[in-house]
Amino acid sequence: MSDITRSSLPEHVAIIMDGNGRWAKQRGLPRIMGHRRGVEAVRETVRAAGECGLKYLTLFAFSSENWRRPVSEVNDLLGLLKAFIRRDLADLHKENVRIRVIGDRDSLNDDISALLIEAEQTTRDNTALTLVIAFNYGSRDEIARAAASLARDVALGKIDVSAVTPDAITARLDTAGIPDPDLIIRTSGEERLSNFLLWQAAYSEFLFIPDYWPDFDRKTFFSAIDQYMTRDRRFGGLPDQVAVAGA
Ligand code: FPP
Repeated sequence: MSDITRSSLPEHVAIIMDGNGRWAKQRGLPRIMGHRRGVEAVRETVRAAGECGLKYLTLFAFSSENWRRPVSEVNDLLGLLKAFIRRDLADLHKENVRIRVIGDRDSLNDDISALLIEAEQTTRDNTALTLVIAFNYGSRDEIARAAASLARDVALGKIDVSAVTPDAITARLDTAGIPDPDLIIRTSGEERLSNFLLWQAAYSEFLFIPDYWPDFDRKTFFSAIDQYMTRDRRFGGLPDQVAVAGA
């Protein structure tokens, strides 16, 4: 098997949904309107991802840094996420979509915590698309929690320090069991990762799109997939090298 493949359909696409505020401002609307339209774009993207047979779609819904926004906007964003789960959970379940949530769950209010658990439990046996919602998520925090969990086990004598390997860290991240993203998309023209999937992005392809998130639709999604499929991925190998797996 070659580890240097002309990219085929991605298995996992992750999206930094940026530009809701600017979309609203451009139209003289309050920021919440941008976020509301952003939820419509989420629905359309989830449908498109399911249609093309994608296995994992990760959406950066709320970062651990987003708490710094004005309380009213934080409440709007939390309200939209709760409403999305309440309204769309049954349909997503019917469409065989599994929901997983990544991020720090410990500091969340009981009501949102219960909703996230309900979404994960209800859909846990679904086998089509896995929709990964990054909520109260920060990559450095995720890596620090994984490191702390390994350190605890070393201190307790459960594992030896030599067992602290990249694979062991990967297995203790919130994304355990989820393959690394093949493609990371960020909308709105900004070109940075903003503490999103830092560990998992080691070999991801990146696509920065000028459109604001509320304008992202199935056409943009399929065009992003097409662009990804023109890329050559080498995973540190050479362009014309064909490696035997495990060699
Ligand atoms: C960035 O736009 C977007 C967010 C911080 C939140 C994204 C959330 C949603 C689309 C709604 C809820 C999510 C789900 C999964 C239902 P920004 O406000 O930073 O825009 P700006 O940079 O133009 O100000």
